[in-house]
Amino acid sequence: MQINDKSGITEYKAKANRYETMKYIRSGKSGVLLPAISLGLWHNFGFVDDLHKGRNILRAAFDLGITHLDLANNYGPPYGSAEENFGTIFKNDFKSYRDELFIATKAGYDMWPGPCGNWGSRKYLISSLDQSLKRMGLDYVDVFYHHRPDPNTPLEETMGALADIVRQGKALYVGISNYQPKETAEAAVLLKEMKVPFILHQARYSIFDRWVEDGLLDALEDNGVGCITFSPLAQGMLTNKYVNGIPDDSRAAKNFTYLEREQVENNLSKIENLAKIANERGQTLSQMAIAWLLNRKAVASVLIGASSVQQLKENMGALNQLAFTDEELKLIDKNS
Ligand SMILES: NC(=O)c1ccc[n+]([C@@H]2O[C@H](COP(=O)([O-])OP(=O)(O)OC[C@H]3O[C@@H](n4cnc5c(N)ncnc54)[C@H](OP(=O)(O)O)[C@@H]3O)[C@@H](O)[C@H]2O)c1
Repeated sequence: MQINDKSGITEYKAKANRYETMKYIRSGKSGVLLPAISLGLWHNFGFVDDLHKGRNILRAAFDLGITHLDLANNYGPPYGSAEENFGTIFKNDFKSYRDELFIATKAGYDMWPGPCGNWGSRKYLISSLDQSLKRMGLDYVDVFYHHRPDPNTPLEETMGALADIVRQGKALYVGISNYQPKETAEAAVLLKEMKVPFILHQARYSIFDRWVEDGLLDALEDNGVGCITFSPLAQGMLTNKYVNGIPDDSRAAKNFTYLEREQVENNLSKIENLAKIANERGQTLSQMAIAWLLNRKAVASVLIGASSVQQLKENMGALNQLAFTDEELKLIDKNS
């Protein structure tokens, strides 16, 4: 390994066999093939985190065929720092692989002070993407999402901004996230009229959280749009991490806003049962949780987070056992 600068960063050369194990899935009716497992940079990539650890996770991901990376303007903390750290890593490691990567970012939550830095106005979306591109050192993103619906801005304005972003060459495709089925269908009509390639809906979906089965997946199938599922491991609950209690370095121990200790404790017996089912299938719980999603309608990719290379590698093992018996599916339903 060569050291190529004074801070001790080693030179990165992607593994030649990186496309041998990953499975690629078409997103809806588009031309885009996404890796069955994608990596999100919501956590573990901010200025509060160790940049070298993040770099190693990204290198390992690309070596495993994970071509799709998911960011947002507000990932960090602080806001913007995941994009900035990604930009630093991209410049050193991935610049020559740009055309192999499918990079996403989003805007929709509060990002900067005042009325222009939040929700779904044309002003916010276009300014935010300009900022994101600068932070990441990119000329364009592959997909730009509106991160959440805005009840007070006309959908025509938000979708019109997405259309202009594509026309300006700042994004190749567009997506939406956290939209309900009816809003999704309305967005699809508008984007179709404007001939904008709408390829993805990013939605929370896991064995524990199945709201998308109530109309959203049907709406996506009807419109030829893929679903990329976030929090597939229910923030770590659907892994073997909590089977023997709450480890000190976990999200739940840190009383993380979206995963409190109590939530894990309340789900513990289900987690134990699911871990047993996974074990009988010859998998870990995280592998089974990912495989389960890959069998669901409209799912184009399972978007995971990982705080170590070891977690990432374990999760990739999901691809070794994707099939389920009816009996297994029933048992999983009982514990969902
Ligand atoms: N569109 C939206 O509104 C939205 C919302 C949330 C997330 N997202 C996207 O979805 C991505 C994934 O979301 P998420 O982080 O909530 O997903 P997740 O995959 O459900 O949770 C990831 C966490 O689970 C734990 N974990 C992962 N693999 C493990 C393993 N093998 N063994 C033990 N623990 C394991 C780690 O937690 P520890 O840190 O405790 O080790 C890891 O940080 C985000 O990065 C983001 O890109 C989008």
